[in-house]
Amino acid sequence: MWSGTPLFPEAASTIAARVDNLYFFLIGITVFFSLLIAGLIVYYAVRFRRRSPREIGREIRTSYTLEAAWTVIPLMITMVIFVWGAKIFFAMSRPPDETLNIYVVGKQWMWKFQHLDGQREINELHVPAGRDVKLIATSEDVIHDFFVPAFRVKADVLPGRYVTIWFRAIRPGRYRLFCAEYCGTKHSGMTGEVVVMDAPGYQAWLTGGASQHSLTEEGQQLFSDLACNTCHRPDLQGRGPVLEGVFGHAVTLQSGQKVTADEGYIRESILNPAAKVVAGYQPIMPTFQGQVTEEQLLALVEYVKSLPAPKSGS
Ligand code: CUA
Repeated sequence: MWSGTPLFPEAASTIAARVDNLYFFLIGITVFFSLLIAGLIVYYAVRFRRRSPREIGREIRTSYTLEAAWTVIPLMITMVIFVWGAKIFFAMSRPPDETLNIYVVGKQWMWKFQHLDGQREINELHVPAGRDVKLIATSEDVIHDFFVPAFRVKADVLPGRYVTIWFRAIRPGRYRLFCAEYCGTKHSGMTGEVVVMDAPGYQAWLTGGASQHSLTEEGQQLFSDLACNTCHRPDLQGRGPVLEGVFGHAVTLQSGQKVTADEGYIRESILNPAAKVVAGYQPIMPTFQGQVTEEQLLALVEYVKSLPAPKSGS
């Protein structure tokens, strides 16, 4: 119903309607109280105006009922807004378990997308409609901000860490993509399009490109090119920790602290291996800072993610 008004962007994701409802509620509350207050100001100004120059004001007694009412009612209204907003926030920040994962690298001044099957895109992102898509995003230089107004999805993309953004587009179409954080001269040109396709169309698009290596295969190649495999071996004989099955699990560090081996941890361990050394191992791994690009890091992360847990007993 709002698509005809240029004030509101099209609602093209599952979360969009929820965000809009809360937003309309906020507008409603604001309009109601603005009119109420403005109306009362005018009414009281007329009603209690000074009628003769000698008139003296009367003392006003505090009404505690009135005071309590204007404290409690706004409190209740703000709590409604808080709980409602928190629910939407949680839904937006917790991706579902089963998602289609796509890596994103922001850079001055473009968006680079890396599909797991190997396809790469710049400033254009193809996704299927009706499927939960998770973007794992980082920046190779400054802070950018990934913003698709039609999906009501917006997140800062920071150098040195991975940020996840998820959405489910509800119908095929083309939707504008922006960088929403000033990032230098051509910030305003750091735009693109999300192309939402129906399932068969997306499948055709995926297979349409020239046959490429999947991200995992690329990571595997790098893993041996960089000689990671001489220390990280699937048996327990390596000088580095076994990486098989490590992804998503808790790792105990030398300090006794436990961390979850997520994308960010793997990335940090490649670039700054001494930061979180696994218990039982020496900090002998060299840093790969400056030797691998953001895209290569993604391939390595994806390869480590893909390593199946060793069968127990072997
Ligand atoms: Cu990137 Cu603004």
